[in-house]
Amino acid sequence: MTCIWNLRVFLFLVSVALAYKERECALPQREREMGSISMLFFFFLILVGCAVQSHGGKTSSFVRKDEKAIDMALDSDVFTVPAGYNAPQQVHIIQGDMNGEAVIVSWVTQDEPGSSKVLYGTSEEKLEFSAEGKVTQYKFYTYTSGFIHRCTLRKLKHDTKYYYEVGFGHTTRKFWFTTPPKVGPDVPYTFGLIGDLGQSYDSNRTLTHYEMNPVKGKTVLFVGDLSYADNYPNHDNVRWDTWGRFVERSTAYQPWIWTAGNHEIDFAPEIGETIPFKPFTHRYPVPYRASGSTTPFWYSIKRASAYIIVLASYSAYGKYTPQFKWLEAEFPKVNRSETPWLIVLMHSPWYNSYNYHYMEGESMRVMYEPWFVKYKVDVVFAGHVHAYERSERVSNVAFNIVNGLCMPLPDPSAPVYITIGDGGNLEGLATNMTEPQPEYSAYRESSFGHATFDIKNRTHAYYAWHRNQDGYAVEADTMWFYNRFCNAMDEPSASS
Ligand SMILES: *[C@@H]1O[C@H](CO)[C@@H](O)[C@H](O)[C@H]1NC(C)=O
Ligand SMILES: *[C@@H]1O[C@H](CO)[C@@H](O)[C@H](O)[C@H]1NC(C)=O
Ligand SMILES: *[C@@H]1O[C@H](CO)[C@@H](O)[C@H](O)[C@H]1NC(C)=O
Ligand SMILES: *[C@@H]1O[C@H](CO)[C@@H](O)[C@H](O)[C@H]1NC(C)=O
Ligand SMILES: [Fe+2]
Repeated sequence: MTCIWNLRVFLFLVSVALAYKERECALPQREREMGSISMLFFFFLILVGCAVQSHGGKTSSFVRKDEKAIDMALDSDVFTVPAGYNAPQQVHIIQGDMNGEAVIVSWVTQDEPGSSKVLYGTSEEKLEFSAEGKVTQYKFYTYTSGFIHRCTLRKLKHDTKYYYEVGFGHTTRKFWFTTPPKVGPDVPYTFGLIGDLGQSYDSNRTLTHYEMNPVKGKTVLFVGDLSYADNYPNHDNVRWDTWGRFVERSTAYQPWIWTAGNHEIDFAPEIGETIPFKPFTHRYPVPYRASGSTTPFWYSIKRASAYIIVLASYSAYGKYTPQFKWLEAEFPKVNRSETPWLIVLMHSPWYNSYNYHYMEGESMRVMYEPWFVKYKVDVVFAGHVHAYERSERVSNVAFNIVNGLCMPLPDPSAPVYITIGDGGNLEGLATNMTEPQPEYSAYRESSFGHATFDIKNRTHAYYAWHRNQDGYAVEADTMWFYNRFCNAMDEPSASS
């Protein structure tokens, strides 16, 4: 951060010099020259200091094989349709209420609507409860979806393993999940972080590394861009189905908290598809009503000791818009004595020093960053850029069009911004970085990977990013997070 301060000193000296220049005329010639020379020399020193220190944190020099990310072939093992007539497929779950006492189960049947009922219970042998869901279907250009079911299981006990069964007749399938502990300030909980996953061989590596990580994530915070079906001709929605089958091995057993990315928009007027987010909203329900939201694109949940706010980079967020009004009312509702950890998810990052999507998050940052600082958000996770980056705690909220104060500055009330769009989709890695690395950027690396955010108690959380080339237990970038509400001290500099 030193350069920012050097710059401030520099600007100060410029103003001193200008003032000096005004008085200069009164001085004898020689004195004037000496003054100018020593002033120039001083500027030179400051500039040298700045040049030497003007890089930010670490740009990893890790070298990986530069292969193109290729989608897994349609006949890959991960896309196998489960056996049996009308067998439920693409099973996934998400928290179904504000506090973690409900779960929404969703799945697809291909041959007929069948049943939208879920049988569930705490004993694998005896599924004593049942809940009735509903079924929907959509068309996209020449594609017609299977029968998409969603069913909410309510009044679940906290911290309890439930078994559940979907399907009917001869083809039923059974899975399980564990409900989160009751919301409270000292409840440990481990989140996984995955973004921009897609369905390439690299995507499969990322998911495998997440599953094999000795730190066991219990819920995935997914920062947007799921299937990348829209990269296929006419947004071939078959790739939404394959994606649902690919991730089922995780999504059927633990909630993935969805954020809408640009690849969920599926706006294609050239083929008559003008309803944005149609496949995404039909397939991936979220509990938005529980937080008073009016659409699935922004919402919040409490889970264990965390309050998670999901924002929409691709819905209106300007002043007076529904999202703005919702967020304005939402921040004051967060009770940090109950949920000390305040986490925000969005797709397009605000602090990104790659030459991809550079400054795309800027307009939203201008709108909302003052609230993030005021309400002391602990961490913001975003995707979109297909690489990894972690920021220092910085804010950039002083600018008012005319005052020139438009630099990110160290700010202990500001969140850490993490870009984790490195799931491994077919578009490949973002490798082109802005140079020099900005002061606010603590660590950046263009590798595929995932992370875990391991909350220990109200004051401490351990964060670790893993790259896919390493062994499952290897951490490539780590940081101890001190809670901004309960333990707002400077964190030790990260070990990486
Ligand atoms: C995907 O990963 C799983 C788990 O590591 C493995 O069993 C499977 O063969 C992989 N599939 C492909 C197509 O890479
Ligand atoms: C905040 O949460 C704490 C702990 O659960 C509780 O005692 C307190 O009443 C809550 N405050 C408000 C304003 O709801
Ligand atoms: C990296 O991005 C910059 C800015 O967009 C561009 O000028 C430059 O050509 C790019 N470099 C490479 C190697 O693609
Ligand atoms: C919170 O967790 C940290 C890290 O595990 C530990 O050092 C600290 O003692 C814990 N605090 C309390 C009050 O248990
Ligand atoms: Fe994206």
